[in-house]
Amino acid sequence: MNLVVVSGSARPQRQSHQVALEVGKRLEEKGHTVHLLDVRDLNFPLLERVYDPAAPLSGKMQEVSAAIAQSDGLVIVSPEHNGSYSGALKNTMDYFYKEYFRKPFGIVAVSAGMLGGINAAKSLQHYALTLNGIVLPNALLTPKVQTLFQDGQLIDAGYGTRLDKFLTDFLWLAQAIQATNV
Ligand SMILES: Cc1cc2nc3c(=O)[nH]c(=O)nc-3n(C[C@H](O)[C@H](O)[C@H](O)COP(=O)(O)O)c2cc1C
Repeated sequence: MNLVVVSGSARPQRQSHQVALEVGKRLEEKGHTVHLLDVRDLNFPLLERVYDPAAPLSGKMQEVSAAIAQSDGLVIVSPEHNGSYSGALKNTMDYFYKEYFRKPFGIVAVSAGMLGGINAAKSLQHYALTLNGIVLPNALLTPKVQTLFQDGQLIDAGYGTRLDKFLTDFLWLAQAIQATNV
C-alpha cells in the first residue's frame, strides 16, 4: 500500500520525529511505500487560504495534495504540546480537505511525560473524524520519548512491541477499506 506518515513537530529539538521515522521504517520493512510529510521540512506559511489546485501556492503543496489523495491511509505522529496536538501540524493539514475523504487514519501521540500524549491523541482522533477520515479507535501513546532512542535507534523493546501491534491494527483497517473501494 501507499502510506503517508506525518511528522508533526516543527521544533529543531523535536523528539517525536524519531518516532515518525521508526513508524516509516517499520511500514517499509513490511513492504509498503511510505511518503513522509514532515511539517518542519514543509514549513507552510500560516494559512490564509486553503490549497486550490487551480492556483497552487507552491509545487510542494501540489505534491502533498497528491501524496495524500493517492494514499491508502495516513499515520499521524504528533507531539503533545500544552494538552493537544501541535499547532504546526494543524496549520499544515488544514490546507487540505477533500484529499482526506474516507482515508484510514492511525494516530500516534508522543510526550515527554508519563501519560504518553493521551490528550493530543484524543483531540487528533476528533480532528481526523472532522476531515472525513476513518479513524483507528486505538491510538498509540508514547510516554517518556526521551528514554526510547539512542543514536536514532529504538532501544525500548516494549515500545517496539506496542508499535508493531498498532501497525498491525492500522494495516488491517487500511486493507479492509481498500477492499471495499470499487
Ligand atoms: C510548547 C510545548 C508544550 C508542551 N506541552 C506538553 C504537555 O502538555 N504534555 C506533555 O506530556 N508534554 C508536553 N511537552 C513536552 C513534549 O511532549 C516533548 O517535547 C516531546 O518530546 C514531544 O514534542 P517534540 O516532538 O516537539 O519534542 C510540551 C513541549 C512543548 C515544546
